[in-house]
Amino acid sequence: AFISLRQMLDHAAENGYGIPAFNVNNLEQIQAIMEAAQAADSPVILQASAGARKYAGEAYLRHMMLAAVESHPDIPVVVHQDHGTSPAVCIQSIRSGFTSVMMDGSLLADGKTPSSYDYNVDVTRRVTEMAHAVGVSVEGELGCLGSLETGEAGEEDGVGAVGKLTHDMMLTDPLQARDFVQQTGVDALAIAIGTSHGAYKFTRKPTGDILAIDRIAAIHAQIPNTHLVMHGSSSVPQEWLEIIRRFGGDIKETYGVPVEEIQRGIQSGVRKINIDTDIRLAMTGAMRQLLAEQRSEFDPRKALLAAKKAASGICTARFEAFGCAGQA
Ligand code: G3H
Ligand code: 13P
Ligand code: NA
Ligand code: ZN
Repeated sequence: AFISLRQMLDHAAENGYGIPAFNVNNLEQIQAIMEAAQAADSPVILQASAGARKYAGEAYLRHMMLAAVESHPDIPVVVHQDHGTSPAVCIQSIRSGFTSVMMDGSLLADGKTPSSYDYNVDVTRRVTEMAHAVGVSVEGELGCLGSLETGEAGEEDGVGAVGKLTHDMMLTDPLQARDFVQQTGVDALAIAIGTSHGAYKFTRKPTGDILAIDRIAAIHAQIPNTHLVMHGSSSVPQEWLEIIRRFGGDIKETYGVPVEEIQRGIQSGVRKINIDTDIRLAMTGAMRQLLAEQRSEFDPRKALLAAKKAASGICTARFEAFGCAGQA
């Protein structure tokens, strides 16, 4: 059944676990997540970006979400819009049947330029008023995702701030978070702690100076009833990087957010963990391997099935690691 993000994360908070929010664009990704959730008995958050809507088309996305729930009637499903850049985008998703929307007012409507605090409060409050009137949850964002190593917004895939950011912009301030939640009424808040989108997050295994997990507890203490969200939370598995390279891909040395650090985040109050890149890496690795090893194969279903299995493997591992397995 479809449920709201608020309902799902309230249960997660009461029971001390976290839930991965996986980005979806196509049939195989949705099936991979749903099959892993069914096997693990886990609730799921399916999230679609503006890029997903452009890729699949609004009607296809909507009907695939319906198919997911029809095929797995016992699994609670949140359909969440990832990184809405304006109130208009959020309204479109609400009309389309999403049960949760992210108003990312940390950036202007171009989705690139860091905004003022007042702008962020204003757009987020407007979306929350409209969404709550129809039972839809809202995620806001305070602070900009970016690399504490380089000061770069680090947006190689076109989502998020562009250019140089200051250290302060890349770390959410706990007292400002409290004011933001009071003024906007959001259900969930994405925080900036040094993570960034995409495969190139860190040039080494991150330590506390470049991944500020310790800040989460201070933010949670100020807004205990608002669910914290970690974006840019792919772990960038070295095994999948090696498979991609072995079968002809070119991925430079890079590190993601270790699963143990996410687990520390969950202990400090994180409830929603956004993951897109890990599924991309696993699917690409699996497709490269299959097509390289079975050179006469030309049925795309073979490659897509391998990709689906690889994606499911990521989902299963995260459901177990984040504690949501068995909670459906
Ligand atoms: O937030 C970023 C997600 O990875 C979505 O990326 O815009 O390429 O769909 P996308
Ligand atoms: P990754 O690029 O680390 O998977 O992050 C995805 C994300 O934050 C989507 O909003
Ligand atoms: Na989101
Ligand atoms: Zn994100």
